[in-house]
Amino acid sequence: MSVTITRLGHHGDGIAEGPVFAPRTLPGEEIDGEIVEGRIATPKIVTPSPDRVAAPCRHYKACGGCALQHASDNFVAGWKQDVVRTALAAQDIAAEMLPVHTSPPRARRRAVFTGRRTKKDALVGLHARASDVITEIPDCQLLYPDLLAAVPALRALTVFGASRKGELRFTVTRSNAGVDVSVEGAKPLEGQMLMTLGAMAGEHGLARLTWNGEMIAEIRPPYQTFGKARVNPPAGAFLQATQEGENALLSAVLETVSGAKHIADLFSGCGTFALPMAENAEVHAVESEADMLRSLDQGWRMATGLKRVTTEARDLFRRPLLPDELKRYDAVVIDPPRAGAEYQMMEIATAQVPVVSAVSCNPVTFARDAKILTQAGYEMGPVTVVDQFRWSTHVEMAAAFTLK
Ligand SMILES: C[S@@+](CC[C@H](N)C(=O)[O-])C[C@H]1O[C@@H](n2cnc3c(N)ncnc32)[C@H](O)[C@@H]1O
Repeated sequence: MSVTITRLGHHGDGIAEGPVFAPRTLPGEEIDGEIVEGRIATPKIVTPSPDRVAAPCRHYKACGGCALQHASDNFVAGWKQDVVRTALAAQDIAAEMLPVHTSPPRARRRAVFTGRRTKKDALVGLHARASDVITEIPDCQLLYPDLLAAVPALRALTVFGASRKGELRFTVTRSNAGVDVSVEGAKPLEGQMLMTLGAMAGEHGLARLTWNGEMIAEIRPPYQTFGKARVNPPAGAFLQATQEGENALLSAVLETVSGAKHIADLFSGCGTFALPMAENAEVHAVESEADMLRSLDQGWRMATGLKRVTTEARDLFRRPLLPDELKRYDAVVIDPPRAGAEYQMMEIATAQVPVVSAVSCNPVTFARDAKILTQAGYEMGPVTVVDQFRWSTHVEMAAAFTLK
């Protein structure tokens, strides 16, 4: 049966009236195929969209790591802007949009691989979407080549440390000193394992190896550079997905807070924004993970030419900063997880902090929280959409809010 795709859903599937879902299709395309439970699993494209391109990666169909490689960069950028615009419109906020920053291919510096033992060796790759199939991705166009170069090490670690039926989860992060590998789901450490793993980390040139949360070897501190500071983050810690994405978000934040002398950086992570901001202002960084703050603090102490940075481990969902605490800041940066920061935003609105730089990875909670500020007398500046999750449906955004 033939249907016409009218829009894309949250996972990037095309949707025709019905609704009928079809993967790897685009709005305006006429497609053909058997509809099973509201889905055409292998659509034949009868009339292709002018936005259709040949997927650059040979693993695209099998892998499940990317959802939008069949669409041009322009189309994806426009679609991501529309997602943000629509979420804001649902809160009665009209948005001016700045050009989208799309990270280049082969720039993702953090990935989660899965490893499973096979009869003779091991399989290491990505899990296909909603499936337990592991796909090897030697020619992946998304990940930084350093991450792919670590796969032989991950394979050796799987052979060594996975149980017969279990899977290992590897969080692999590119650092300035090599690859940082954190393994979960592995056999417990016993006997000579620690020595062997330490030797394996060295042989494979890993910067650091962590096993079920325990550090095995730090051959070179896997540091990241945030402004003038070098930070050695805890294993598996949050890091913006690409350097280019981080630069785009940081530029938006720095522009918003320029001129501020006392800044609160809420949901600060390891200091991605706090440390560069400290070149011009005193910064108080607040975050729930104490070990991330320890890394931030150490990075600040080792750096020269930065103003004072203080840290506070605090659950900002349960204990948001209150107006009394907020009134000493002339700007707040807020970059919460996907759930957003409704209660914290209410306190900021009550405190009437003059400038708020909001960064988000979820258009819906971003819009909900933006509404709290606009209702309290703030004006939203133009929105920067940052696409650091290239070829996926994830969207990041940043905007400035100032009192009218
Ligand atoms: C999107 S990340 C942003 C980190 C940082 N701004 C950056 O750019 O690297 C969100 C951060 O919020 C922290 N977080 C999550 N839940 C939290 C909570 N309830 N209270 C405080 N921080 C939280 C996470 O540990 C994470 O570091």
